[in-house]
Amino acid sequence: MQNTTFALRGNIFYTPAPGSLAVHPESWLVCEEGRVAGVFSSLPGRYAGVEVQDHSGKLILPGLVDLHAHASQYAYRGLGMDLELLQWLEQNAFPEEANFARAGYARQAYALFTRQLTASATTRACIFATLHRPATLLLMEQLEAAGLCCFVGKVNMDRNSPDILREESAASALAETRRWLEESRRFARSRPILTPRFIPSCSDGLMAGLGELQREYGVPAQSHLSENLSEIAWVKELCPGTDFYGQAYSRFGLFGGACPTVMAHCVWSGEAERALMKQNGVFIAHCPQSNMNVSSGIAPVKSYLLEGQKVGLGSDVAGGAHLSIFRAMTDAIQCSKLRWRLVDQGVPALTLPEALYMATKGGGEFFGKVGSFEPGYEFDAVVMDDAALPTTRACSLPERLERIVYLSDGAPCAKYVQGRRLF
Ligand code: GUN
Ligand code: FE
Repeated sequence: MQNTTFALRGNIFYTPAPGSLAVHPESWLVCEEGRVAGVFSSLPGRYAGVEVQDHSGKLILPGLVDLHAHASQYAYRGLGMDLELLQWLEQNAFPEEANFARAGYARQAYALFTRQLTASATTRACIFATLHRPATLLLMEQLEAAGLCCFVGKVNMDRNSPDILREESAASALAETRRWLEESRRFARSRPILTPRFIPSCSDGLMAGLGELQREYGVPAQSHLSENLSEIAWVKELCPGTDFYGQAYSRFGLFGGACPTVMAHCVWSGEAERALMKQNGVFIAHCPQSNMNVSSGIAPVKSYLLEGQKVGLGSDVAGGAHLSIFRAMTDAIQCSKLRWRLVDQGVPALTLPEALYMATKGGGEFFGKVGSFEPGYEFDAVVMDDAALPTTRACSLPERLERIVYLSDGAPCAKYVQGRRLF
């Protein structure tokens, strides 16, 4: 964090609540000690003389949040998209993730991922690495050096996984996880998050041990939940004593409440699961492109927003082929229109401000006061230039935002995290 005060000048957008878009034409966004001091239509006298970084004519947005991505799957994004989830995992995810046993491969693959994430509009992410402790630390090191602020998980998996990608026993998995938690203490911006892959790949002994580590270290947790019908049927078989999928996590204390938790997908969550998510403040990472690619379904995201769930967006690379959270916004809106048309005409489609809310403040809440330009929020900002998207039409500011979301490659021309300018 920098001990400096400065201001950005430009067209400023943020979403204080789902569906409410704040637009400040050619205004000043002031940063004080890494936090937002305010948005002003003219620079207040007390800031006279502070450095003003001039982005006039461009759009300034809160940094985007990717609430669910697999850094270890980036290399095969866009491949194997004819398969459904469980086959896709076996044929693509597991063989690729096995490569991360080799430090040389991991260094190269994670450097590529880190470069692409840095160049994107994403400032915060919740990331799965692989089960390999040294490779996971390499990823944390690279993200930290890039200036990004991420939760990174060493994946746990000790059953129903191939020999090339399975931890030997619950005991050895837990010992490696503890060692990784200790070794992660050296990072400031890369923070550890417990990462049982999903229920089918984690034994009860492993889950119980992770619950104990959670309570000892006070770290958050991430996993997958109610993603795909064949996966859900499998969990039912594996956990006969549970009433719904989420219970398979909650019985080990890994489902919100005292353990901040983000669950990817929640495409098929039923009433009881939703009630427990709401009660425990579990974050939902909505990953619409992945849900389409591996034929999972259309999550009822608008209903989640309406019922007051905590919802953000995820790329789920490489279930999703694209790292851009602008792309996730358009996918979320388009999916919700299909849901309205094909499933439930009682629930309207998502709007652009709702999608921006999920991409910023909705997911940002998992990181604290993140994802908005309200005073006191951590200063994460991206500057988007729509000059490369020519049109003969004179667009209003909300229209220009819409064109950035739907048309741009997602790359900002300037990026700030916690008040530090990355480029
Ligand atoms: N469920 C368990 N592992 C995975 C994964 O890597 N990707 C997705 N989309 N779902 C999963
Ligand atoms: Fe995933």
